[in-house]
Amino acid sequence: MSALETVLEAGGPAVERLMDRVERRMEAVTAGYGAALARYSRETIHAGGKRLRPLLVCLSAGVPPPESDGLVQAAVAVELVHAATLVHDDVLDGSALRRGRPTVVASGGRKMATATGDLLFARAFAELARGRSPASVTVLSRASSELALGELMQRADAFDGAIQVERYLQRCRLKTAVLFRAACELGALAGGIPSTSLAPFGEQIGLAFQILDDVLDVSGPPERTGKPRGADLLDGTITLPLIEARNRDPELAALEVGLVRSERDAGTVCDRIAATGALDAVKERALALVADAKSSLPALPERQRAALELVANGVVERYA
Ligand code: IPE
Ligand code: IPE
Ligand code: MG
Ligand code: MG
Repeated sequence: MSALETVLEAGGPAVERLMDRVERRMEAVTAGYGAALARYSRETIHAGGKRLRPLLVCLSAGVPPPESDGLVQAAVAVELVHAATLVHDDVLDGSALRRGRPTVVASGGRKMATATGDLLFARAFAELARGRSPASVTVLSRASSELALGELMQRADAFDGAIQVERYLQRCRLKTAVLFRAACELGALAGGIPSTSLAPFGEQIGLAFQILDDVLDVSGPPERTGKPRGADLLDGTITLPLIEARNRDPELAALEVGLVRSERDAGTVCDRIAATGALDAVKERALALVADAKSSLPALPERQRAALELVANGVVERYA
């Protein structure tokens, strides 16, 4: 059983029912805006995806969570924002594959991907607005704005070999961790617990998640990640594995990332990064963040704490 299946089981039948409602609702909300947008939005939503953020929304509301419309709306909204950012991210990163399938930008072109991402963003906020919780809208709009900053930072720093760890972490916080934090905050709001009480947990597991994603970009294998190894190198994204490996290998320290142009070259650099032992060091860092996340949890009912800890472990398991 995968870590996420274990989490679903720990959450009980209410979580499974809620997650089914989330799926059905996501399907419905993107209809009505023409055949092309419906097709690409639907393909994006149906392409799989772990649904980690909606799961966090549910478990942050309690175990078992209340089976309320507000909770479903919040979970749908977070996953739609996630889907929107992925569609736009693939335009910015020039990525051809996601979840093992052609990205919207690869199959429909840049204009279609821009519009599809825009629609998904808009539908996310429309969904949240139905819940009439201004606090929830504030939480998600703050995270979405920070996401935009993070994506811009990634482009601004592209191909810059001098990027330091602190700036890398700030980028990961903005582009990934804030949405995990928002998922926890929205769930807490729907469950009637103080919205900020789970924010540090969400942010820390989100940061660990991105760091491990960056490790997976180097280690692959592509059959597992659904994208080629070294995709970050090819789009100029300097990540912690490379930063760490550069401190260990002078040839990597001297590498001009802009000169890595083919998937083959990128694969060779990935092997070299792996040979320095940097991946284990980076993984340790992510594990430490997961441990911090768990110890940041406030006093919670035992079942809820256990379920949230399982999610945190699931973040790590995807690397193992
Ligand atoms: C991918 O997120 C983008 C990152 C933040 C690294 P996920 O790995 O959660 O994407 P899906 O939805 O499961 O494909
Ligand atoms: C995460 O960045 C994507 C977003 C937070 C939008 P990446 O560029 O590393 O994600 P992948 O590798 O394309 O999934
Ligand atoms: Mg990307
Ligand atoms: Mg990545």
